[in-house]
Amino acid sequence: QRKNVILGIESSCDESAAAIYDSERGLLAHALHSQVALHADYGGVVPELASRDHIRKLMPLIEQVSAEAGAPQLTGIAYTRGPGLVGALLVGASVAAGLGMSRGLPVLGVHHMEGHLLSPLLEKRAPAFPFVALLVSGGHTLLVQVEGVGRYRMLGESLDDAVGEAFDKCAKMLALGYPGGPALAALAQAGRRDAYDFPRPMLKRPGLDFSFSGLKTAVMLAVKGAPDTRQAHADIAASFEQAVVDTLVAKCARALKQTGLGRLVVAGGVGANRHLRAALTQCGARDGFELYFPQSQFCTDNAAMIALVGSLRADEMRTGIAPADAVARWPL
Ligand code: KG4
Ligand code: ZN
Repeated sequence: QRKNVILGIESSCDESAAAIYDSERGLLAHALHSQVALHADYGGVVPELASRDHIRKLMPLIEQVSAEAGAPQLTGIAYTRGPGLVGALLVGASVAAGLGMSRGLPVLGVHHMEGHLLSPLLEKRAPAFPFVALLVSGGHTLLVQVEGVGRYRMLGESLDDAVGEAFDKCAKMLALGYPGGPALAALAQAGRRDAYDFPRPMLKRPGLDFSFSGLKTAVMLAVKGAPDTRQAHADIAASFEQAVVDTLVAKCARALKQTGLGRLVVAGGVGANRHLRAALTQCGARDGFELYFPQSQFCTDNAAMIALVGSLRADEMRTGIAPADAVARWPL
């Protein structure tokens, strides 16, 4: 593959981001604007507000990364085509199409989850193929066997809520605001992890699928029955986090055993959870598998992972007039 320098654009949800990835030198620059403050009052992402903010922020972010990278000669543009909020996605798609046309650069629409899946390759200590990936974000909970770029075999997924979604909903029950995942994890530090015996969903059943709605209901009942004190809430948070971590660790161990692979990659927003990282590290030491995490800033949504996928798939980029193409739903 020829040397390439790719501009990556991410706008699938509530993060506007741009990055430049060089196939020989690695990540040259990345920048991000979070819309968390914009949506906080509404307790969740408001799609129309998200789209409008992407319009305001994307071009300045692109100019910023270009300046920081030393205004390199780009060879292509990669943007998140889906899945996500279609209005938000269309902003990134339009910017990519417009820049591609005006600068004569080829463009590629990238799968957001493939970005998360391959994000550990941004690190100096990158995993070799094949590996098992645990993808845990606000929208997805997947176990995937990754044989190479574009060669993915689904091992298991959540039958209902995604893990991040469960974190966010439980955080909401504890009045921790939005998005509550990190706040719940912080509160859990002050709690007793064995205070509640919450269900470890699907652990007794064979297979690699997940389910978190039963756990969510158990937490709801616990919140209703508990005193309205910080310690009681911390106990619930800690016990919930423990139930999630136990479930994820057990399924990862099972996936590695089933595939016979020795490398586990953890990606997606919930991959930033410290308790999960510690538990997986312990399990890895016990079972003898190698663990790979992206840095926390590349676990959550970012454009570095999109530029990286663009670089790895540069051969598929198209020149000419690119339509602004976005899709809300898109299987991996
Ligand atoms: O990958 P991501 O940034 O966005 C997508 O969903 O694509 O993931 C965001 C999710 C949210 O649900 C957030 O609450 C959760 O990741 N999250 C965490 C932590 N940091 C982010 N959940 C638990 N512990 C954390 N430290
Ligand atoms: Zn994401």
